[in-house]
Amino acid sequence: MRVVIAGDANTVATTSAQIVSRQLIGQPTSVLGLATGSTPVILYRELVRRYEAGEVCFSRAKSFNLDEYVGINPEHHQSYRHFMQQHLFDHINMDPVATQVPQGLADPQIECTRYEAAIKSAGGIDLQVLGLGANGHIGFNEPTSSLASRTRIKTLTEDTMAANAHFFGAQEQQPSLALTMGIGTIMEARHILLLATGKHKAQAVKAMVEGPVSAMAPASVLQFHTTVTVVLDAEAASLLDAQQYYHWVEKMRAEITREKLESS
Ligand code: F6R
Repeated sequence: MRVVIAGDANTVATTSAQIVSRQLIGQPTSVLGLATGSTPVILYRELVRRYEAGEVCFSRAKSFNLDEYVGINPEHHQSYRHFMQQHLFDHINMDPVATQVPQGLADPQIECTRYEAAIKSAGGIDLQVLGLGANGHIGFNEPTSSLASRTRIKTLTEDTMAANAHFFGAQEQQPSLALTMGIGTIMEARHILLLATGKHKAQAVKAMVEGPVSAMAPASVLQFHTTVTVVLDAEAASLLDAQQYYHWVEKMRAEITREKLESS
């Protein structure tokens, strides 16, 4: 697991946007896995900026979002489809047909099977972007989720509902069920890029990176993946024991890159 402690949220955005951009430049037909929530907003803003500056192109890419609330209309202001349109899809040149978000109004069972098959027929996910729940969830795979789970319907924990309650109006019914890619589905992505910012994520980051692998900390399963990049701000990284080592590794990587550039 590569752990990049980027300092502040802006550096988290530029570091992670650099990874997504490189993926798209190296492989324009990439299949991206995308997340919603507060954390990736800064990444999407930076990607839109790069697209507008002509630095990155999405025209041949495809995407699959991690999750969607059950029973929610895609036009609803809190649907994850709406979120993605607002923060990314409406501002870039990705073919709308190539952007997939689980359909919250579909029959859940049929939709989950369809979604898994669609990911497979697209050739699998090349780069999966993840946020991290304060309780350690990835996607909506709450603690105790099977580490081998596939796309399915999940009941949200009270903690997750409380964390997202402020997005919904007082008169609005907040969904308690979601369709989510499973942990097994996420683990099949070729490269995983997880972002976490803020003090409230520090405990979950510690459990994910340095804790024992456990269904009680679903993100800890990423320790079994060979190509994971975790990009953190200083607050989210604050409880990590090996912070100095992670900084040292990044310093060495930068030196190796500089030497390679100088000798070429
Ligand atoms: C969203 C998702 C969730 C969030 C997580 C963190 O698609 O899959 O796992 O990434 O709940 O949310 P924020 O970024 O709002 O703290």
